[in-house]
Amino acid sequence: MSIIKTRATTDRVVVESFLGGGDHRTLADDVLDGLTRPFKELPPKHFYDSVGAELFDRICELPEYYPTRCEREILATRSGEIASLTGAGELVELGSGTAAKTALLLAAMHDAGTLERYVPIDVTESMVRASATRLVEEFDGLRVHGIVGDFERHLDRVPPSVDRVPRIVAFLGGTIGNFTPGSRRRFLRTLARLLGPDDFLLIGTDLVKDPKIIEAAYDDSAGVTAAFNRNVLNVVNRELDADFVPESFDHVAFFDRDREWIEMRLRAQRPQRVTVGRLGLRLTFAAGEELRTEISAKFTRERIEGDLAAAGLELVDQLTDQDGLFALNLARPGT
Ligand code: AVJ
Repeated sequence: MSIIKTRATTDRVVVESFLGGGDHRTLADDVLDGLTRPFKELPPKHFYDSVGAELFDRICELPEYYPTRCEREILATRSGEIASLTGAGELVELGSGTAAKTALLLAAMHDAGTLERYVPIDVTESMVRASATRLVEEFDGLRVHGIVGDFERHLDRVPPSVDRVPRIVAFLGGTIGNFTPGSRRRFLRTLARLLGPDDFLLIGTDLVKDPKIIEAAYDDSAGVTAAFNRNVLNVVNRELDADFVPESFDHVAFFDRDREWIEMRLRAQRPQRVTVGRLGLRLTFAAGEELRTEISAKFTRERIEGDLAAAGLELVDQLTDQDGLFALNLARPGT
């Protein structure tokens, strides 16, 4: 693994990268593991190449896709409360992306006079750098310590808080929903280990609601989510020298009422043969056969409270948008 430490133009920004050459490996492993099963599956993390990241940004602006708008509304109206309740001087953010919504929370911490440092973690170095530069300009005195890495593998690289100021560890957008229930609790325990006694976890969760609303959010009329879903096949084609024909798969999104999650799949329109060159792998799809590409769990308050408790965390407050579609959950180590 290569560790490249660089000091950017301003000495208020430090960016460390922990992504080495081994990153094709995880896609190769996931393809080998997931596409040779009777029920084919790929994990959603591979959606986000540069095209996928761009499509995701477009999803966030779609009329049907409410989570981003709702979470922004909550942050816009309640960040002051979160800042004063936590007294946090540092914000650690997993999967920070463009940090568009995060700025609302940083602004509230700045207004409260406590803001010292922002620690974004993201796999896309250009996004970490761009947001760092923008934010140190926006908030005087702010320092940024960016981590270019995968929050499932590199949380141990998060620096300890300076002078033990209280901090908020934020995991926004509802991405926790991508974990299956068992791995979700395991991940929450890992997050809990990042927290000192005065620290808080701020976690975004989409809420259980009328399936029609959820399904529309994952199958928009402009077809952006369908393109986002199919793009994962382009990623496999490019990275692993495969020959998927993305257009010959239909986008499928449905809410599983028993499991309380939405699932996205790609359904083969006709029988297909696919070769994955780099892996020397030959795959077949029967007509109508489906490949699961994402689950995105929706939560009741009881469910997130239970998951947090299983990780030794206590739900302090659940903040929702006006329509009650999405929630930001503020938790802290239990007593
Ligand atoms: C980024 C995981 C929160 O599950 O809503 C959006 C990804 N997938 N549309 C979600 C996604 C299809 C999104 N998360």
